[in-house]
Amino acid sequence: MFLARSIQAFFLALSFLFLITVSGTGNHANAQSNSPELPAGAVPGGTTDGNSSDSELWRMIRQGGQGTVAGVNEKSGLMIQSQGEEWRQIRNGPLPAYSAMAILGILLLLSLFYAVRGRVKIEHGKSDKTITRFSLVERASHWLLASSFIILALTGLNLIFGKDLLMPVIGASAFANLTIFGKYVHNYVGFAFMAALFMVAVLWIKHNFPNRHDLIWFAKGGGILSMGHPPAKKFNAGQKIIFWVVILCGISISMSGWALLNPFSTTMFADTFAISNSIFGTDFPTVLAPIQEQQYQSLWHAIMAVFMIVVIIAHIYIGSVGMEGALDAMTSGEVDENWAMEHHSLWVEEVKSESKNLTDAGRAQPAE
Ligand code: HEM
Repeated sequence: MFLARSIQAFFLALSFLFLITVSGTGNHANAQSNSPELPAGAVPGGTTDGNSSDSELWRMIRQGGQGTVAGVNEKSGLMIQSQGEEWRQIRNGPLPAYSAMAILGILLLLSLFYAVRGRVKIEHGKSDKTITRFSLVERASHWLLASSFIILALTGLNLIFGKDLLMPVIGASAFANLTIFGKYVHNYVGFAFMAALFMVAVLWIKHNFPNRHDLIWFAKGGGILSMGHPPAKKFNAGQKIIFWVVILCGISISMSGWALLNPFSTTMFADTFAISNSIFGTDFPTVLAPIQEQQYQSLWHAIMAVFMIVVIIAHIYIGSVGMEGALDAMTSGEVDENWAMEHHSLWVEEVKSESKNLTDAGRAQPAE
């Protein structure tokens, strides 16, 4: 009996010590901005007899207050993080629901568009001449970007929908193996995506700054609704939008992916919130617990990725089944001259005058 009481007292003392440690600070460098602190003067105490109340302490812990812990990982000073529950609810509720709606929505829209408009044909038929549109380096960069993105999209979508869609079909064990394999593939292929993104940005940025022809292109609905072909240089206004979405979303997804690969080591969201507060007068928290930073990163990564997937589905449609002659640009690199004249008339003029200048310059060389 005495032994049992002694053991009980020993453990009580231990938990008491732990609680005192946890109640440490509310302004820890890693604490959340809205972490409640233990009220001044409050002494965590109380025994099983209930002679004093621990309610303030437990309220502080329940509301996500962070204490300090000695000798171990200091993040464990945060015992309960309620935002984690909010993150879980968004992650399992609105995120998959809206993502499914967006992806099914764009597929439906494109099917309707195809049913109504059909394939955009080369109006004047194919000529027997071609013109070089993309070099080997450009095509290789594009296909590295495309293939890595598709792998990332499929392995990423598996994390959002796989449990509901794939697991019932292939079984839990196969799904677990596939998902862990997919996770490693996702982590490594991300680097190929970043390299290709860099290549594509360097190669094409000079063709993607807005110009006055873009306004006419928009006014004519891109000529897609049969209002004549508006003139365009190498890339038309629609393609410029695709380019900038790919580059900006690609950078954002890469940065959040980096933060997820290196957990608890970045403060990108806190920093972004601070900038937003100072520029736009918003009231975002600027001190985030490391776990909270990860939660924001994970949601942002998924939202940006789904947005980009939706845009890219439309891009793949118009670059393949949606438009006659377009795919040649990315396979052989040679496009039909009539196609080029209809969709990129100003670019054709540029290319022709450049090659004429070269020929003239060659002719002007005096004979040796
Ligand atoms: C199987 C999938 C894909 C096909 C068939 C495809 C097809 C094409 C074609 C034909 C072009 C050249 C259009 C022209 O000559 O003007 C192009 C350009 C481009 N592609 Fe793709 N693409 C695919 C996937 C992707 C992916 C996944 C990305 C990015 C993540 C991407 C990004 C781009 C960009 C930025 C351009 C230049 C801007 C534009 O033409 O819209 N493509 N693609």
